[in-house]
This record gives sequence, structure tokens and C-alpha cells, in this order.
Amino acid sequence: MDEQGIIQNVFQTKDTLYQTKLKEAQASDKFVELEDGQYFLPGFIDLHVHAPQWPQAGIALDEPLNKWLDECTFPLEAKYQDSTFAQTVYQDLVKNLLARGTITVLYFATVHLEASLALAEICAKQGQRGLVGKVVMDHPDMNPDFYRDASTQQALTDTEEFIVAVKELGKNVSQGVYPVITPRFVPSCTDEGLAGLGQLAEKYHVHVQSHCSEGQWEHDHVKERFGKSDTEVLRDFGLLTEKSVMAHCNFINEKDGEIFVETGTAVAHCPISNAYFANGVIPIKRLKEQGVEIGLGTDISGGFSPSLWDNIKQAVMSSRMLEDGVDVTCAQETRGVPDSRISVIEAFSLATQGGGEALSLPIGVIAKGYACDVQVIDMNATGASLSGFGVFNEPAEQLQKLLYLATPANIKQVWVQGKLVHEKY
Ligand code: GUN
Ligand code: FE
Repeated sequence: MDEQGIIQNVFQTKDTLYQTKLKEAQASDKFVELEDGQYFLPGFIDLHVHAPQWPQAGIALDEPLNKWLDECTFPLEAKYQDSTFAQTVYQDLVKNLLARGTITVLYFATVHLEASLALAEICAKQGQRGLVGKVVMDHPDMNPDFYRDASTQQALTDTEEFIVAVKELGKNVSQGVYPVITPRFVPSCTDEGLAGLGQLAEKYHVHVQSHCSEGQWEHDHVKERFGKSDTEVLRDFGLLTEKSVMAHCNFINEKDGEIFVETGTAVAHCPISNAYFANGVIPIKRLKEQGVEIGLGTDISGGFSPSLWDNIKQAVMSSRMLEDGVDVTCAQETRGVPDSRISVIEAFSLATQGGGEALSLPIGVIAKGYACDVQVIDMNATGASLSGFGVFNEPAEQLQKLLYLATPANIKQVWVQGKLVHEKY
């Protein structure tokens, strides 16, 4: 790796060059010698986290989405008016995500400028690669008075100020922090607000994120308001670009998929959250075959778990449910959607390489030219042994075993851009 934390070479232990390189590396403090049963894995990339919802993770999961937003989530997010509260929560969240091997995160903050900036600063300080959005909710009739932007103009001015400030902050952060244009979802924004954000996306070429066709309610609402799909609306306001990531997308059709491919927009697949709030399973395999970029998201706290390890497993299980189908009457001869399943290795690839492609950043792969973002996994961690007892020791078996069974206790170290940011307590 070079001074900037970029991987220059990857050696196999059998390479003749390995011994020389090993000696060089041992002389520096940026060297990890792996013991038996220890592996490097690429750091995970979480494409969808609501940072302010962290205190609510694991609770309030029994309401439909719009009721959950109005009664649980908006009152919680309104508390981030208090920047001291925001700092306490955000410091704890970033630490928890790093301890689970999550190195890069695409965050929704709240509508508050100061607290959103605090999140970017905390990522910078703790060594996480954070892409952070000040959320825009400027529609006076679609958001509660206690939690929304004061006006459309204020929302746009605050967003621009946020972009400029985070770009400036990012200049001194080796792993990078980035501003993200963040209309919460189409229902929460005015036409003028969406158009203004599209103009900012063009002016600054920064990332864009939102929710898209998450559930039937949102899908129908947008169709009624604009006479077109969520995807078409976002595209027509200039919000779908190479650097856009749309969360969920459970109800997008083939034509929407084409728009994603044409514009280079990626999907943040949030399988745990979708099991609770979406009432539908997104056909990941079909979209991938169509050429849509896809990564994984926890959707804290719509998804109860802060762990992409858990979401990898759920992505596999959801795809199997879609393929096998559910027919409670047993009236159908065929059930489900054929050829929908993905393997655990494919789901792992969504959480790593897929995330890097979605964000258009050189991350998520251990290879020359990529950021040195790694988790050191210990299969023999005390009290968390994943031994194959000498019977199941093939690399593919070890990888599957750890993807299904590893816990944070197996994550020995986490390195971001060549810097150690977490070591098991
Ligand atoms: N749609 C709009 N806001 C939200 C949110 O906070 N979580 C989820 N899952 N969907 C949303
Ligand atoms: Fe979400």
C-alpha cells in the first residue's frame, strides 16, 4: 500500500516476491501478520443508514411505514435540533458500525444543518468514510410542522451550504467524507424543492440519495401526483445520475430498471427492512441481469440490525422466499418466481464490490488501485470459534462458514484506507 492507503500489490504467500515484500512491510507499522484461521475481507459498504434513527433500532417495527414515520420516526428525528444530542448518538453509531466491519456509509442525517455537519465531522474524526446528506422535507402539507424545512428556499440554501462545508472538510480527510443531496422521498418534497436539488446536483456533481418505490403507498402516491413512476419523476427532476443511489426500489418495473441503467443510478437493497415495511421482495437477480448496479443497506432503523453481516444472510433468504413463493391455499401448481435465488457469496459481493460500484468509488475490493479497507476476521476468536475441525477447511467453505456464522467477536481489526480504526476490545 502507498502513503495514501491505496493498495499497490496483492501477493499470494506462494509468490517468490512475497518474502521480500513481507520483510519490507514488517519494517512499517502498517503491517498485519495473519495467523492460522485469520483472513482479510474487504470492508463493508452500507448504502442506506438513517443515522438519527439509531436510538430506535429494534423497536417500533409493527406499524405500516407512513404511520411509523409520523408517530415514531419524525418525533425522534426532530430531537436533532439539539446538536449535543446529535453528537452523542452519532459518535456511538459510527463506533458501532466500524466494529461490525462497516467502513463506508451512505447516511441520511436530519433536516438540521448543524447536526448534519456534526455527523460528517464525527465520521472524519473516527476514520469512517461517510457520505452524508442533510435531509430535505420542504412540503408544508406532507410533513409535520414540528419537523420539516422552514421553506423551500431555506431547504435549498441549507443544502448548498452543507455541500460547500462538507467538501471543504473532505479536503483534509484521507478516507474521504462527501456531501450528498438528499430529498427524503418524493412525497415529502415540493416540485420546486426537487427541481432545485436537481440543479444543485448538476452544479456540484455530488452524490444523490433518496427512497424510491419502497412500498405500494409511496408508489401510488407519486403516480397520482405526477401521472408517472417514482423513477421517472426523480429522473425528470435531474436526480438520477451516475452518483445516485436509491433505497429499496421494491416496486420498480422493467422500464424503471432501464432508466436506472441509462442514468447509472444504483439500488440500495435493504432486505431486513423490506421484510418489515415493504410487503414485497425486490427481484435482485433480474435487476442485476438487466445491468442495474446494486449494493446493500441496513436501513437503520427500518431494519433493526446495524450489521451488513445480517443483511447478507437476509438477502439470500429473501431471494429464496421469492423463488419458492408462498401459496397458502396450495391452489397453484407453480409458486414463486423461478430463478430468483442468489448465493451467500453473491450477497457478500453486493455488500462490498456492489457498494463501491454504486458509489463510483475505488473501494470494496482487495486489489491494486483500491483503498486498503479491510476487516481482519479471526475464525478462532475466543468464545466464537468457527472451526471446521479439519474437515471443512477449503477456502470456499471457510468463507461460507464465516459469512453465515461470524459475529462482531470474530472481527479482530478494521482498517480504513490503511489506518487501524477498530481493534476488538
Ligand atoms: N421513506 C421515507 N422516509 C423513510 C425512512 O426513514 N425509512 C424508510 N424505510 N422509508 C422511508
Ligand atoms: Fe430508509
